[in-house]
Amino acid sequence: MEHPLITKREANKLLIYRTGLVKISLDLGISQSEVAIKNNLAHINNQKIKLKDFIKVKENTCYTIENNTLKPIALFSQDTGLYYKLFPTNDWPTITLSSTPMHRYSSLSPKADTETKIKEISPVKGIVLDTCCGLGYTSILASKTAEKVITFERDKNVLAIARFNPYSNDLFSKKNITINQKDILDEILNLKDSSFDRIIHDPPTFKYSPDLYSKEFHKQLYRILKKMGILYHYCSCPKKTKGNLLFPRIVNQLKEVGFNHVEYHESSSGIRAVKE
Ligand SMILES: C[S@@+](CC[C@H](N)C(=O)[O-])C[C@H]1O[C@@H](n2cnc3c(N)ncnc32)[C@H](O)[C@@H]1O
Repeated sequence: MEHPLITKREANKLLIYRTGLVKISLDLGISQSEVAIKNNLAHINNQKIKLKDFIKVKENTCYTIENNTLKPIALFSQDTGLYYKLFPTNDWPTITLSSTPMHRYSSLSPKADTETKIKEISPVKGIVLDTCCGLGYTSILASKTAEKVITFERDKNVLAIARFNPYSNDLFSKKNITINQKDILDEILNLKDSSFDRIIHDPPTFKYSPDLYSKEFHKQLYRILKKMGILYHYCSCPKKTKGNLLFPRIVNQLKEVGFNHVEYHESSSGIRAVKE
């Protein structure tokens, strides 16, 4: 295991048993491993961690092990002014950018959140554009049936965090996924007309990236989608923007640039649209 991962759940288990062989998951629930505890030291991946260090493990944080110590999977970037953290949930983790999660995780888990988004563009086939890569969940699910997935992520810090996430492994290893560490706002201008069968547009909230909700960008999405292609456009939760709903404006904009059958679906918190 390249990066063993520890959360509060695993730390508590080690602290309860305190000695002998303890079965825990070192990959956020994908598999189980046996950890030996001897003389108040936990032996994980040829490293020895003091048992008392596990007392300091915080909720909502994932840790890896480096130089016999627990290291949070988190970083601050001077360039962006953001603090990035891999945030554990009941299934797949999310990533927070200065405390803003990039997936729904309370009403719906990140796994269920991704599944509802992918269902919107089913059947997923042909060439898929995933505009905003994040932890790569939408790309990974789409790649199961698509011929090819092309994805963009402008922030290298997000990809650095994703490299620690076992649920993002396929993003970096699957041959039919191409990751471009570039800004989709610039790169979309270089994408050819009618070249994608499906588009997943899963931007951060409007506050973070208003340009990704602009009419100019929607025009480009329309241009690069093939005839009978389907777009899914995430649009932040109406409950949080009560009184000034964003999605009706986005629905209108998508219609104005030419999309048909434009419908907002509360289940996926987003809009499905077709290019006829
Ligand atoms: C909501 S997350 C996407 C989650 C992703 N669909 C997944 O399955 O993990 C949005 C991501 O878009 C990235 N982003 C924001 N603006 C971007 C841009 N202009 N071009 C490319 N990526 C961008 C953010 O850094 C963030 O990682």
